[in-house]
Amino acid sequence: MKLLRVKNYEDMSKKGAEIILNLIKEKQDTRLGLATGSTPKGLYENLIADHKEHGTSYKSIRTYNLDEYAGLDGSHPQSYRYFMNDVLFHHIDIPLQQTHVPNGKADLLEEECKRYEAVIRESGGIDLQLLGIGTNGHIGFNEPGTPFDSRTHIIELAESTREANSRFFDSIDEVPTHAITMGIETILESKKIILLASGEAKADAMVKLLTGEVTTDFPASALRNHADVVVIADEAALKDVDLDQLKGIQLR
Ligand code: F6R
Repeated sequence: MKLLRVKNYEDMSKKGAEIILNLIKEKQDTRLGLATGSTPKGLYENLIADHKEHGTSYKSIRTYNLDEYAGLDGSHPQSYRYFMNDVLFHHIDIPLQQTHVPNGKADLLEEECKRYEAVIRESGGIDLQLLGIGTNGHIGFNEPGTPFDSRTHIIELAESTREANSRFFDSIDEVPTHAITMGIETILESKKIILLASGEAKADAMVKLLTGEVTTDFPASALRNHADVVVIADEAALKDVDLDQLKGIQLR
């Protein structure tokens, strides 16, 4: 695991976009794993700005999102499909049929999980997966206790996650109780992983990720077992991390 310490949200977003753009330039048919939430929005803005300015093309790129709320149609403004269209896909030249988000409205959600796994597998696997991190250490919607060998599955959202995400809904009652998420093993199969963290709200999660134990109580700790993870975190997120206590992590 490598840790890239940056000043603030803007620098985190720029650095993350730079890594993705370098990869896309090298491999025009890159398969990108994407995340939603507040954290990657700035990175997506950088990709859009670059697309407008330098014409970087996404015509051969395929994308695979981590998760989707159960019960929300892609036209629902709080669905992750809607979010991705709005903050990225509609502003670059990627054909929408090459963008994949689990279908939260599928009649049989279990079948949808299997279908999604097959879509990723048949694509040849994800080259680079982008992640945010929950305050409780969740990655995707893999909440504490999720086994490290989990594949795409349906999960009951932790109350803390529903509360954190209620800021996007009119009230907490409207936040779905379940979601479809790539499993931890699905995420770990990605060749390269970038995890972004910004702000004091992620400070405790950074201490656990960078200096804590590898345990299912803190799902992101599974990333310690992956060969190519870059954590890009800003000063506020790292404020409580003792950089002398990093074990087996390269600081850059
Ligand atoms: C989103 C996702 C979640 C978020 C996490 C952090 O697709 O999988 O794990 O990355 O909840 O969310 P923000 O960025 O809003 O703090």
